[in-house]
Amino acid sequence: MELVGVVNLRSSGIRVGAFWGGWVLVYDVLVVDMKKGFVIIVLAGVAVCCFSFVRNKPAKSKFSFTGEPTTKEQLGEVLFFEQRLSSDGSISCASCHIPEFGFADTVAFSRGVRNKRGDRNTPSCANMSDRPYFFYDGRAQTLEEQVKFPIENPKEMNMPIASAVKRLNKDAHYVNWFQSVFKELPGEDNLKMAIAAYERTLETSSTPFERYMKADDSNIIGGSAVRGRELFMVKGKCFECHFTPDFTGDEFRNIGIFDGKRFNDSGRYKISRNREDIGKFKVPGLRNVAVTAPYMHNGMFKTLREVIDYYDNPYKIIPNPVNIDTLLAKPLNLTNGEKEDLEAFLLTLTDDRFKGRRKR
Ligand code: HEC
Ligand code: HEC
Repeated sequence: MELVGVVNLRSSGIRVGAFWGGWVLVYDVLVVDMKKGFVIIVLAGVAVCCFSFVRNKPAKSKFSFTGEPTTKEQLGEVLFFEQRLSSDGSISCASCHIPEFGFADTVAFSRGVRNKRGDRNTPSCANMSDRPYFFYDGRAQTLEEQVKFPIENPKEMNMPIASAVKRLNKDAHYVNWFQSVFKELPGEDNLKMAIAAYERTLETSSTPFERYMKADDSNIIGGSAVRGRELFMVKGKCFECHFTPDFTGDEFRNIGIFDGKRFNDSGRYKISRNREDIGKFKVPGLRNVAVTAPYMHNGMFKTLREVIDYYDNPYKIIPNPVNIDTLLAKPLNLTNGEKEDLEAFLLTLTDDRFKGRRKR
């Protein structure tokens, strides 16, 4: 039996220990003042009761799958919402990659187990099927490989993947589900395969932009967004780095958010150790960007307008960037109207399922 956590009810002196496997042990520690000092009498095992609500707690999001999973995608979906993949049972993938907000988080830095703050902003994990690598610094090559990082990260889920697999094997539901989907017991590889398969279902192309492109009818997105698209392609130079179909060329580029002082995440350089990569980050796709605020690897911009103002003149915000891309060498000199048009265009990239989710 593995101890999951202990709650100390201070005023009463009662401690409640929750054990993995769905059991709770309530015990009381009495500290009795004897003549020769303190003797601690532990009245253990006062009550052992079933803690069944911890087990198989139904996932709450309306996005999550709640039936009996029969495909690897469905099993992956259940696992994506499974908090028991974290050391203290409090965090799932969906805690940070919130489905309602384009599978990104709404804060600059997400909190993992025991409220620990992460080092980077949580990006969306939708539209990952065509990506050649993952994370802002590209440290994982496949979606399967990626899964292990958050599970084992001490600031995220904080579980050796072998322990996560052990937990799954102790649960009869998971054993049955893995047997029926993979013809195997839960293991590291099939756990990764299931979650990655679910992530590959998160492609989002039911957008006003796609409908506009198909029908070639500007009424679908409106004149402002049509002008914004032109600005995105030409004057703003956005398209040089954010190209279709998912609005990313999957390259590492430096847009000036590294000055070695206040802004000191060196990005791709941490992995490649190649000096040219200092301050380069993976170009993120822009689908659903209306609902994935805040923006950038450090979550420094709260709104799309702030992002656009930054690109208009990065030096106003970060005066001495190291190694900034030549495309951003000169200010864009966008007018107020042009900035509004550019934003209107970005808003057409939101999938219908996230409509109305914009945080303002
Ligand atoms: C505590 C918050 C947190 C949890 C929990 C979490 N993630 Fe993430 N995720 C992040 C952050 C932050 C990043 C970006 C880190 C970086 O680039 O260094 C990220 C990046 C990713 C990426 C790469 C996205 C891209 O554009 O390259 C994928 C895919 C992903 N996470 C999937 C998952 C899966 C699957 C799980 C559950 C097994 C999970 N995450 C759990 C915070 C979290
Ligand atoms: C030189 C390549 C380059 C150009 C040009 C460029 N971007 Fe980016 N963009 C990036 C990179 C790299 C990031 C991620 C930087 C980071 O996280 O620190 C990014 C991030 C963003 C984000 C934040 C996405 C998120 O989820 O956090 C938005 C929005 C964005 N760009 C829009 C634009 C717009 C609009 C333009 C044109 C005005 C533009 N970009 C021009 C490379 C570029």
